[in-house]
Amino acid sequence: MNTRAHELGSKVVYQVYVRSFCDSDGDGIGDLRGITSKLDYLRQLGIDVLWITPFFVSPQNDNGYDVADYRAIEPLFGTMTDFEELAHEARARGIELMLDMVFNHTSTQHEWFQRALAGDKHYQAYYKFVDAAPDATADNPGEPPTNWESKFGGNAWEYVPSLNKWYLHLFHVTQADLDWDNPEVREQMADILRFWQGKGVSCFRFDVVNLISKPDGWPSDETDGKHFYSDGPHIHEYLQDMVHLGGIDGHFTVGEMSATSLESCVRYTNPANHELAMVFNFHHLKVDYLGGDKWELMEPDICELRRLFRTWQEGMAAGGGWNSLFWSNHDQPRPNSRFGDTERFWYESSTLLPTATHLMRGTPYIFQGEELGQTISDFTSIDQYRDVETHNYYRIIQERGHSAQEAFEIVHARSRDDGRTPMAWDDSPTAGFTAGTPWIGINANHVRINAATEMADPRSVWAYYQQLIALRKAEPVVSEGDVRFVEGLESTPVIAYWRELDDAPAGKARRMLVQCNFSGQEVPALKAEGGELLVGNREAWDAATLAPYEARAICWR
Ligand code: GLC
Repeated sequence: MNTRAHELGSKVVYQVYVRSFCDSDGDGIGDLRGITSKLDYLRQLGIDVLWITPFFVSPQNDNGYDVADYRAIEPLFGTMTDFEELAHEARARGIELMLDMVFNHTSTQHEWFQRALAGDKHYQAYYKFVDAAPDATADNPGEPPTNWESKFGGNAWEYVPSLNKWYLHLFHVTQADLDWDNPEVREQMADILRFWQGKGVSCFRFDVVNLISKPDGWPSDETDGKHFYSDGPHIHEYLQDMVHLGGIDGHFTVGEMSATSLESCVRYTNPANHELAMVFNFHHLKVDYLGGDKWELMEPDICELRRLFRTWQEGMAAGGGWNSLFWSNHDQPRPNSRFGDTERFWYESSTLLPTATHLMRGTPYIFQGEELGQTISDFTSIDQYRDVETHNYYRIIQERGHSAQEAFEIVHARSRDDGRTPMAWDDSPTAGFTAGTPWIGINANHVRINAATEMADPRSVWAYYQQLIALRKAEPVVSEGDVRFVEGLESTPVIAYWRELDDAPAGKARRMLVQCNFSGQEVPALKAEGGELLVGNREAWDAATLAPYEARAICWR
């Protein structure tokens, strides 16, 4: 048995976006006690690890990804006692908590930044402050140190008149990038990891962690600058330092990697390097970005999707790395609306996607509501959106020459809020999410797409997810098998791969063929003679054809 593959590959992670999961106190915002009240639901689904998005003290300019105190709970979400109760109750159900560590930047409300602003040089050295020209003024600060763009739009530098310095913010202006070249910063971050381990937490997710090492000398070129600091010059050294000092080598960890490469991800996750257990990469979620631009729409390019899955599945296996498997998170619009047809084939689209990824080599992640087939928002006006990136780009898209109507259509397809509408627990007016007024609108289709309805239906999207999770635990070929993509499908909308485990225990699958039709048309199926259906999203299936959005896995024992 391959122990590492067994350990990582037999687990399934569930992501809770705390604001939108379950509100226990009627203020319209999800909270920790709300999560505790739903642990039985999660146990029934079958998940192992619960990733909770940041609930630390934060002004909430980026919904908690702007942390002002890494060791205290944001009052909106509860108290430390609530957290301890959640951890205790989760453990009692065999669920481990995974905390979301936002270590590339802090909120400008963090004490370190506040001290830096007050002129304390010791804390200025925690951030990326750069001197402005001697004659710079608030009205006329001159050129920023680089032309790098913030991920949320606009230049990535902010001028501070009282210091006559710029500081770097790769995200919002209230999210100041830390200086990881400073060993004291690395020690501080490790200390935060030790603090949470003291509370019994052992799994961690690291937000945009491949951005922490910036290049020397502040280079600029004709690009947005990301190639200078993604997988930056000292990234492996700094990760190793954090993992070693923080005492998390060999733990269940995941790094969110922005604009990364296969080669880097092999290094991040090969255990010989003592960095992370696995990575999130986003290449496959850009196959509908026209010209690589998130804010220009096109239909998903399935050929490219297949090529990327193959490259990452086979490449990570060859290099001894480990992938996370996912279609959605709190930064992505709901994938069934994006890669499927939720008007005509809602059930098939919502089950095709997890069939494709859950049976791959890696660790699957489910984003809350995905297991119900929740769709993108039904918002009709920009005022219904809350996200800072969405509002910035709604303006920028119009500045680039699109009409307000076009800008809305683009934002509606791409906004992070399209995945952040509340979890639909039942068909009541507030979907069982809150007794108050929800902080963001609830999709009207929750009367149909909700947990209570689906849990009572053996042929629901929920039941299908439950089946996929159980399969990963029952069949070693899924958790530990080799992976090989089927070639020669370029002119088809089919993504297909083999999983193989020669030494599978008696009675278990040794080979499995997964085939997924990413189209609304019927297409020929691959031959799978003598095989038995392991899982599939059509009740009646025909060995010779794949129906629209049909997915099936056939196995040989
Ligand atoms: C990550 C988070 C995202 C956040 C950003 C800055 O990409 O997933 O929600 O806005 O980092 O922290």
